[in-house]
Order: sequence, then structure tokens, then C-alpha cells
Amino acid sequence: MDIRLSTIGMEKGRQYETIITTKNEDGTKNAAPIGVLCAGETKIINRIFKGSHTLDNIVREKEFIVNITHDPELFKTSILGNLPQSHFNDNMSIKCADAYFKCEAISFTEAVKQSDPIKKKDEAIVFKSEVTDLVINKPTQAMNRGFGYVIESLTNLTRFDLVDDAKKEEYMTHFKEAYRVVKKVGRKEDIKAMREIKKELMKRGFDL
Ligand SMILES: Cc1cc2nc3c(=O)[nH]c(=O)nc-3n(C[C@H](O)[C@H](O)[C@H](O)COP(=O)(O)O)c2cc1C
Repeated sequence: MDIRLSTIGMEKGRQYETIITTKNEDGTKNAAPIGVLCAGETKIINRIFKGSHTLDNIVREKEFIVNITHDPELFKTSILGNLPQSHFNDNMSIKCADAYFKCEAISFTEAVKQSDPIKKKDEAIVFKSEVTDLVINKPTQAMNRGFGYVIESLTNLTRFDLVDDAKKEEYMTHFKEAYRVVKKVGRKEDIKAMREIKKELMKRGFDL
């Protein structure tokens, strides 16, 4: 079986936004958007906050599915409601996912992480999983948030000379947060682009 996360565009060390599906205690299926850190061709790492159904289900069942999709409706419905059971296949994957992979959790540790704005650092669990199956329904690339930030930062850059000081300040605050996130989760091309934008902003006299 050919299991290589690179075939769905996942690079080691980068984070992707996915929808993880799990089995609830009563046998029904649950879906939630969750970030997935690629730790190699067949390994991933998750950090999930305590209190979520997803974490409870994974701790209990050890097995889960990572669905790859670019459908905003699926992300939105999994957050603002429940994805109807009719959207799931028997194996827990989402019917219209571009691709999905099956995982088995192999180790759990309490999270200690200082690089993001979440205050309650001890209320998450970090766990490593082995990918045991990969199904590609159509050619796709896992969703990475970096590129969106690059485009937004570039758009704001083109508007800097057209806006007042208050708006410039707002753009700078936005850029700093975008730079932080892209350095953390973005692909190397996104990080490179953000560095160039930062250089340009500094050249224009902004303090970064
Ligand atoms: C794009 C996206 C990525 C997310 N990534 C994570 C994550 O990595 N860890 C986490 O604990 N919550 C994450 N969340 C928040 C969970 O999806 C949210 O808490 C959800 O309500 C949990 O649902 P559940 O109780 O059904 O598991 C993310 C949300 C979005 C929209």
C-alpha cells in the first residue's frame, strides 16, 4: 500500500487544516476541524484541547480519520453545528472529502507550548499517530493557511500609501500576526514571501 502524505502535498514540519472524524461513545460519528502537523510520510502530530469530543473519542478509540477538503461549508457546519450522519461513510470518512487518511494514535503527552496566544497551555494533549491507510478520491493538496496570509499581506501592502495612519497601524498589527502564523504553519515558499514583505515594510520605515 502506497502511504505517502507528500502525495497530498503535506511537507514534514508544516501544519495543515483538516476535518478529523471520530466515533462517539454511542456509535455515531463526529467531525471537527483540526490542525494536523505533518511529522513524516506516515506520521502526524495533533494538539487538541481538553473538553472536545474529538479528543475524548481519540483517547478512547485510538483510531480516527483525517479528511482533506477545501469545502468551507464542511468546516463551517462542523463548527457551528453537527455534520449530519448522512455525510459520513461507514468507515467514518466524509463522503465528499478529496482524500482521507486513517490514523492510529500511538503516544499522548500533556501540551506545553509557548508560541501561540492560547493562555491555558496545560489544557491540551499532544499526540503522535501513525497513518495506516490513505485514500485519494481526487487529486488534491492539503489545506495550508499560509498562502491566504501571504495574499492578504500583499493586498494590504499595495494599500499602505492610500490609507490614513490609523489604518496603517491596523495593517501592521495584522501583518505581525500573519507573520507569526506563517512562520509557524506555512510552507517554505509562504515564509520566504512573508520575509520579503517584512523587508519591504521595513524599507518603507515601519518598525517590525
Ligand atoms: C481550521 C480550524 C482548525 C482547528 N484546529 C484545532 C486544533 O488543532 N486543536 C483544537 O483543539 N481545536 C482546533 N480547532 C477548534 C475545534 O475544531 C473546535 O473546538 C471544535 O468545536 C471541536 O469540536 P468537537 O467537540 O466536536 O471535537 C480548530 C478549528 C478550526 C476552524
